[in-house]
Amino acid sequence: MDISESSVNSIEQMCGVDYPVFLAGMAAISGPQLVAAVANAGGMGVMGGLRLAPKTLRRWIHEVRSLTDKPFGVNLVPQFGGPDVFEAQFQVILEERPRLLSLFYAEDYCEDMIPRAKAAGMLVMVQVGTIALARTALSAGADIIVAQGSESGGHLNRGTISLLSLLPALLKEAAGKPVLAAGGITNRHDVRTLMSMGASGVLVGTAFVATEESNAHPLYKQKIVDATVEDTEYRTGYSFGWTYGTPHRVIPNRDPWNLLRLMGGGARSIDKPRLAKKLSLYAGQGVGKIDSVVPAAQRMAELIQGLPEKNARLPDGLSRIETAA
Ligand SMILES: Cc1cc2nc3c(=O)[nH]c(=O)nc-3n(C[C@H](O)[C@H](O)[C@H](O)COP(=O)(O)O)c2cc1C
Repeated sequence: MDISESSVNSIEQMCGVDYPVFLAGMAAISGPQLVAAVANAGGMGVMGGLRLAPKTLRRWIHEVRSLTDKPFGVNLVPQFGGPDVFEAQFQVILEERPRLLSLFYAEDYCEDMIPRAKAAGMLVMVQVGTIALARTALSAGADIIVAQGSESGGHLNRGTISLLSLLPALLKEAAGKPVLAAGGITNRHDVRTLMSMGASGVLVGTAFVATEESNAHPLYKQKIVDATVEDTEYRTGYSFGWTYGTPHRVIPNRDPWNLLRLMGGGARSIDKPRLAKKLSLYAGQGVGKIDSVVPAAQRMAELIQGLPEKNARLPDGLSRIETAA
């Protein structure tokens, strides 16, 4: 299938963005600066809300609004803190009403939360890695499904299926509703390929960790830059704050004397360098295609060049990068 004008336009119109490129709402990493930078470059900035106390969640939303007048989203992971924590976060979302609520590990909450969020005027996007999870989200009224391939960095919900095989299956399930592709996406070629398969757009995590505006520790960003395609690993052991066994993908630390290597995490710029050095760090298989830390607008400029020319308006101040043969 060719990149369909109607699918490109519909997700853009639904979300009020110029390009169907979504920042993954990465806990601690996708903060106000990164969300606003992606939104100002024409994409959908999505804030990582997991672990944020309601007060901080509200403050971050206000901070995004002080940096951009574009629409943006907030990601929550209901299962992470349990029903009470989630309900307190959800109340903030209902009051602040970002354009988009993005949910992950949400299957037990879909039936209740999706109608409530939609009744408050928000779009709801749910990220899944299996057909069963997609069905649950769709039957509860999800507006957008994210097909999360096993290439993806961070936690996986919960599939082990690679994106090229998962995407067609979820497109069939979605029966015309928009499906975004996620996992290993770093450049215009990835975007073009996935949209030619029928994806309405893409959701990108690791490539935005390695941007100037991300909250990631500089040593973490550098590990992403230095890693090759062979350097990530799918794990089911410990990860920061999650139930033991929750699958995730990391750049493993192989230092034999360091116990922190057994834990997956995402070190922030405010954390001690030791954490970035010792943890196994969340990252997707796209690391081999990321060779520098750049401003988020430059990452966006690269990604949107996978789109038809009429949609590929570059953010102000950036020159066109020539398309490789
Ligand atoms: C550092 C990091 C943190 C993440 N945190 C979250 C999160 O809090 N909520 C969520 O829905 N997904 C989270 N993810 C997964 C992303 O939503 C997305 O599936 C993934 O980044 C896509 O693959 P890519 O990293 O190869 O682009 C995280 C991913 C990374 C790399």
